[in-house]
Amino acid sequence: MTTTAITNIGSLVTNDPALGDGSLLGLLTDAAVVLDGEKIAWVGPAAKAPAADESHDAQGRAAIPGFVDSHSHLVFAGDRTQEFNARMSGRAYSAGGIRTTVAATRAASDAELEANVRHYLREALRQGTTTFETKSGYGLTTEDEARALRIAARHTDEVTFMGAHIVSPDYAEDPAAYVDLVTGEMLNACAPHARWIDVFCEKGAFDGDQARAILTAGKAKGLHPRIHANQLSYGPGVQLAVELDAASADHCTHLTDADVDALANSNTVATLLPGAEFSTRAEWPDARRILDAGATVALSTDCNPGSSFTSSVPFCIALAVRDMGMTPDEAIWSATAGGAAALRRTDVGFVREGARADLALLDAPSHVHLAYRPGVPLVSEVWQRGRRRV
Ligand code: NIG
Ligand code: FE
Repeated sequence: MTTTAITNIGSLVTNDPALGDGSLLGLLTDAAVVLDGEKIAWVGPAAKAPAADESHDAQGRAAIPGFVDSHSHLVFAGDRTQEFNARMSGRAYSAGGIRTTVAATRAASDAELEANVRHYLREALRQGTTTFETKSGYGLTTEDEARALRIAARHTDEVTFMGAHIVSPDYAEDPAAYVDLVTGEMLNACAPHARWIDVFCEKGAFDGDQARAILTAGKAKGLHPRIHANQLSYGPGVQLAVELDAASADHCTHLTDADVDALANSNTVATLLPGAEFSTRAEWPDARRILDAGATVALSTDCNPGSSFTSSVPFCIALAVRDMGMTPDEAIWSATAGGAAALRRTDVGFVREGARADLALLDAPSHVHLAYRPGVPLVSEVWQRGRRRV
């Protein structure tokens, strides 16, 4: 296997305090990283780097672990420009808009859906994302949900079954029958293609009891739970996530003190998705409050055509720092190691020996520029599984 030394890294975020200056980000200056096949073989001061087959000069740029985007909805067709325009003229966001994308997705061919996933993934990769999770949830029939998962699984291991995105329009008169479908035939067809199960626990989608029934049925089929929780209103989602040991409670915009306490005393990560608040003109989640309580926070895009049509983790970092009370270091940790924690992974989100060789080089002297220079395409080079991809 060929080894490659990336040398002359001005400032390197490792996320391993033992490797660097002892800070959260384990920062190393004048660093080098040696890649061996798909893995990282060595990290340390450039002056001490072992010999490698090939050498690549980072020219003093900053480097970070590739972003781990632990929440996206990439299997869809069409867009919702009109709905966005209406919102920006004052209309409120509601879960009902999801139906527009369900209709477009059902009507699309496999090839169209596949091309869409590829398109948004390439977009994300160019902005530094090297690991991503993605969900079904715009099919809402057994066939359409299974199809979405099959397509997603061609691109990532982090595939989530979300037949419980909203009650299918075909079951508008009988939501209980839809929950039966999701926990029965649909789950049977979908479970082999997924690692996770997710529910939108919200008024207008699924209540706490329905969400518990769906996630419990998923667990019995070997899927691990995660929940869209407390996005549009206060509700039972976060407590349910903790009760079921979900890997992540996503959104966490409307939290009581008891919700924050529950997260802080659990293994459930609070995944914050500021693209959604940006794009729905909603109140920001209070990251400061959640972090100060001691909970783990992940930062992800929620990329979807309705509530958050961005594939850009750097954009989310800038929003989190400007409007959610996070420091740049906390935001970058949350978008890398935090995303990994939300997927219960330790092999990504870090630059250390044995981790996957996923790195983003920035056209900047420090990772802080990701928040300091919002909207500027600073990701200038991306390595994924030891290969240069951008
Ligand atoms: O995470 N909250 C529910 N689901 C998506 C929105 C989906 C849509 O509007 O199409 C979200 O924001
Ligand atoms: Fe979402």
